[in-house]
This record gives sequence, structure tokens and C-alpha cells, in this order.
Amino acid sequence: MALPRLGGPSFRSQMSDAVTFDFHTLIDRRQHPSVKWQRYPDDVLPLWVADMDFASPPAVIEALKARLAHGVFGYGNRWSELEHTLVEWSGMHYGWAIEPEWQCWLPGAVPALHIAALAFAEAGEGVLTPRPIYPPFLATPGHLGRQLQTFELAEPGGSDGQWRLDLERLEAAIEPNTRVLLWCHPHNPTGRVWRADELCGLAELVQKHDLVVVSDELHCDLVLDPQRPHQPLGALCPQLAERLITLWAPSKTFNVAGLSTACAVIEDRTLRQRFLAKVEGLLPHVNVLGIAAAQAAYAHGEPWRQALLQVLRDNLALLEQHVAHWPGVHLVSPQATYLAWLDFRQSALAGDPYRRLLKQARVALSPGPDYGREGFARLNFGTPTAALAEALQRMDGVLGE
Ligand SMILES: Cc1ncc(COP(=O)(O)O)c(C=O)c1O
Repeated sequence: MALPRLGGPSFRSQMSDAVTFDFHTLIDRRQHPSVKWQRYPDDVLPLWVADMDFASPPAVIEALKARLAHGVFGYGNRWSELEHTLVEWSGMHYGWAIEPEWQCWLPGAVPALHIAALAFAEAGEGVLTPRPIYPPFLATPGHLGRQLQTFELAEPGGSDGQWRLDLERLEAAIEPNTRVLLWCHPHNPTGRVWRADELCGLAELVQKHDLVVVSDELHCDLVLDPQRPHQPLGALCPQLAERLITLWAPSKTFNVAGLSTACAVIEDRTLRQRFLAKVEGLLPHVNVLGIAAAQAAYAHGEPWRQALLQVLRDNLALLEQHVAHWPGVHLVSPQATYLAWLDFRQSALAGDPYRRLLKQARVALSPGPDYGREGFARLNFGTPTAALAEALQRMDGVLGE
């Protein structure tokens, strides 16, 4: 069965009379290499890896065209215009006064996780991370001969019914040889935006046990719940400065993951130098197109981001309507990002929801065990609403009452 062409009434997000953005058209991504769209046969709707099916903001596309027109693509370098733009973005959205020199622009956030584990833990020493978690957090220590250490997030509960950070479990998992904590805020895959009290508790333990913490905040610009504004760990806990690496990127927010560009924000000079010493010779220079895209995104992408957030909220509401009719399937509404962490443990698909949905609904989710949890799967709803509706209807056929 071929993927349906999406038609129907025009769905354009309108930010002002002058600017409209198209979040409706399903762009054929199989005509170019795409990990999301080429892993599965053509009849499968891919709702897995964390990239969206939307074109990037027009301002980003224009900036890339201008950069292409220049025609020379030799090695890049630091770019003070971008550094100042990120300083402004940070101040405006998060009230965090970062400095240009704190910024280490790199070809990706996952490479930065590796650099941190390499720089701040010796061979055989421990790198701690929660579960469930974005799979590279679990893989990074083993790639480098460091010891993977994990602790479980607490199951949904409390007054807001959300996944929880249990500080006692975190502390119990810290071994004498633990050196680095890989943290994710907002959290992939649960979509949690951690509260100040949780983050302050975490900061206390990080200090008490003399750890370096990497706060991967790639999803921070995609907060869906206006009651839960993102607070960077570094803004909330300035006392962590000498042991904190914050990861930011335009990749998730503005859908430019293929341009391989991220930023490690490191306030402390010594920490930064130790981090950069490991980058040298191991990572390539930052992608020159990614730098152009990042500058345009942070400088001019805000109206597009606001329109995107509305589309994502609408998509989440649609998903929730369907989940309500799937017996035994539970979803704790993500507070941020376009990823939904679905709990199938009490459903008919409990054994292997990923495989059953792939086979019977021809919809590809991300398998829970990759994140450290059986019985779960992650669904990416960052796609035009009609495509999501088609996938959900297919899932109704397998899961519905
Ligand atoms: C929390 C988190 N960190 C890192 C990445 C990947 O970053 P990059 O492509 O820059 O390596 C992702 C992608 O999904 C992510 O969700």
C-alpha cells in the first residue's frame, strides 16, 4: 500500500497577515536520503526517529540559499554573530545570561556526550544516566570503555501524574567510581520538563558526589505546557558552573538535525578547556551550513516556532483522543517536545508493541527496550496532522475497542 497523498482543506498556521507557514503539506522525503523514511518499506508510516516532517523556517531556508550562493565550503570557524544571537536567545527565553566564549559549537550533541564521558571519566570509571532514556545515553559509556551505570525514573504519579525523578534512587546509584551524570531536560522519551525542586535536588547530589553533569537540553524550545516553562539547569543552579555542560541545538526545534550542529555551553574555563582538548582531532569542524542555519533560526525563527508549537499541541490532542479508545494503553501527556512515550504493558500488545504495530498497522514507532523499558514504545507526532491521523486510524484497527 503506497503512502496516501495528503490533500484536504488547507491548514496553514498564520502568525500575522504577512507570514504564514505550511505545516500541512506532507513533503516526500524518500526522494532524498532520510533515515526516518527509508528504514521501512514504502507502505509503513514512520513515527519513530526524532525529526519532524516539516520544512524548516523560511528564514533558515533563505539563509542556506544565501550561504550556498557564496559557493565556498571550506572549514568553518567560531562565528561571533551566532554566539551573540544565542546569548540573546538565552536571555530572552530563559533569563540565563550566557557569554559568547562559553559556547563550543560542535557537529552534534551525541558527539558531545561522548566527549564529556571521555574527558571527565577515565577508562573503567562510571557514567550514570536515568532510564528510560534516549538510547545514545546508554551506549556512550560502552563505546569508550567507561562503565554504564543507571537508575530508574519513578513511574508516573504524584499530584501531576508525571514521570518522576526519585533522588534517593539517583543517590543510591552513584558508586565511588561515578564521575559523570548524563541528564536530559526536557526528558526524551517522557517529555518531562523537570521542576526546580527536582533539579535543585539533583544539583545537590552532583556537588556532594563531585560529579560532572551534562544537561542535554535539546528539546527545551519545544515546551507544550505553558504552565511548565523550561529552566536551564545552569540558570537555576549557578553553583554548578564548574561541573556543568549544557547542550543546546537548533536541530530539534527548527528541524535541521541533518545539518549536524549543536552547542556545548560551558561557563567554567577549566572545564571548557578540558572538554575542548578532547574535541581536537576527534570531531570534525562544525558544519558551515549548520552554522548559517542556526544563526537564521535563532535570529528569525521565533514566529515559526510559535506556529509549530500550536500544531504540536493540536497533534498531541488528536493522539490523546485516540489513546483514550485503546484499552490498556497509557500516555502521560508530554510537557515538551513531539515525542509520546506510550505504555502498552496492560494492553493486548504488551509483549512487543513495536513489532506488532509494525506488522499489523504498518506504523513504525521506536521500540521501548532501546530506551531501557520493555512494554513501551515512543511515537513521534511531529508530522502533518493528516499523516498522524492516518497512522492513528491504522493503530485503531489493532488497538481499538
Ligand atoms: C535528547 C537528545 N540529545 C541528542 C540528540 C541527537 O543530537 P545530535 O543529532 O545533535 O547528535 C537527540 C535526538 O533525538 C535527542 O533527543
